Amino acid sequence: MSVGVIVARLSVWRGAAARRLDGLYLLACEGAEALDGVALPVALRRALSRELERVGFAGREGELLAAASPTPAFRRVVVLGLGKPGEITLAGLRKALRRLLEQAARQGDRTIAVAVAAAPTDVEPALARAVTLVELGLADYRFDRFRARARDAATISRAHVVPSRGEGAGRLAALVRDAERTAARVRLARDLGNRPGNDLTPARFAREIRGLFRGGRVRVTVLRRRQLERAGLNGIVAVGAGSAHEPCLVSLEHRPARPRATVVLIGKGVTFDSGGISLKPPADMASMKHDMAGAAAVVAAMRGVAERRPALRVVALLPLVENLPSGSAMRPGDILRMSSGVTVEVDDTDAEGRLILADALAYAARFRPDVLVDVATLTGACRIALGHELAGLFCNDDDLAGRLEGLARATGEGVWRLPLRAGYRELLRSEFADLKNTGGRWGSLPASAAFLERFVPAGVRWAHLDIAGVGHVGRGVNGLQPGATGFGVRLLGALLDELAGGR
Ligand code: BES
Ligand code: MN
Ligand code: ZN
Repeated sequence: MSVGVIVARLSVWRGAAARRLDGLYLLACEGAEALDGVALPVALRRALSRELERVGFAGREGELLAAASPTPAFRRVVVLGLGKPGEITLAGLRKALRRLLEQAARQGDRTIAVAVAAAPTDVEPALARAVTLVELGLADYRFDRFRARARDAATISRAHVVPSRGEGAGRLAALVRDAERTAARVRLARDLGNRPGNDLTPARFAREIRGLFRGGRVRVTVLRRRQLERAGLNGIVAVGAGSAHEPCLVSLEHRPARPRATVVLIGKGVTFDSGGISLKPPADMASMKHDMAGAAAVVAAMRGVAERRPALRVVALLPLVENLPSGSAMRPGDILRMSSGVTVEVDDTDAEGRLILADALAYAARFRPDVLVDVATLTGACRIALGHELAGLFCNDDDLAGRLEGLARATGEGVWRLPLRAGYRELLRSEFADLKNTGGRWGSLPASAAFLERFVPAGVRWAHLDIAGVGHVGRGVNGLQPGATGFGVRLLGALLDELAGGR
């Protein structure tokens, strides 16, 4: 499996006495005390401040300065402005970090020190440093699997992080180590999410997952199409019926001796969504190769489980299918008998995600989960409503919703809670079956969640994350590479950490 190589390996900068580095790369905000927050040797910091003043560097967002190094510890010094200290956002920081590493690559610098003299204001202050370090570990991400030659950014071999003032090297080293692991998981989710439909078919995806967990403590089971039919998982079977690539349901399980709780994670894994017989318009249909971003995030989160072995039973359910039109495809008007016995009229074959998630949600009952979370690129409506900023959160439990909202602020993966209400359930009334899979145009976003709600096992605390807007992005969004973002990996990881901590 080509897990993205971590190009910018991170470590802690141990001071000027250490080996000479190619460059010192600084992110500085506006103001005379711009560099006060970084723990550079006093003489060096003063010399730099003088130089910034001399050339009139103001620290405005995007302002770039390449200066001669006042110390032999570095061959060159590059400073990039971040803007006003109180206005720095995670997106702004991400852009700046990316630009900084691109600059380093362009200069041919292989070993660099990075000093970030500011914190994003839209994340929990106590965790802003950790979030910043993860972003640094992601700043050189590229999807190069299908390129003959990896592009230039691959020249940076190591980024040494300069401590902030008052930050002990030991603590920073621990943060850096954690950040590298987290970044590696996000990279994994992006690498999976970016693979096109002809490459990552359901069967190949299942094989990749097996490879990722081979020899570890997480058990992998794959139900193939015949087994799905026998188990009555007819949503997955029906959505997959149009494709020559058969669907499957992958389960992953981590089962420690005395778990504090059972958590089931579900990820939508549509390896390509053409819409089926209700074919999508051609514009941007190619982006539907990312329609398995939810499954990718769950797989990456499970890697975290394999590494950290929390005192939780964690089960991941990944329905993997391709949604294509053909002579064997499901049609509008078809009525499916779901595993729970509920019948569903297929109003629109493009509302396929909820059909496969319905099966997975019902299947989750056998694990008696305390917490059930699904992650899915479910609706264009969510992308329209919340854009690339926030994921939609639907939740039947205020405590779980509150936790997720808090963890969203802690990880920088934002969520916005949306309503589950009886009125939206009404929209799904069908003339011919128990319900239909769409509710018309108005309220289509809450209606999608109302559909899922029908299949959540009774009494189970459940959260649904619609990542249609944040799971993949086009060019120029928030300093991200175009394509899969790996959204959800950090949020799910943080949730598992919290539940394992017994809080
Ligand atoms: N995978 C799409 C949703 C999507 C759209 C994700 C754009 C990311 C970007 C989903 O399967 C879908 O097609 N949803 C339909 C539902 C509708 C038919 C009720 C939609 O949102 O149009
Ligand atoms: Mn669809
Ligand atoms: Zn879809």
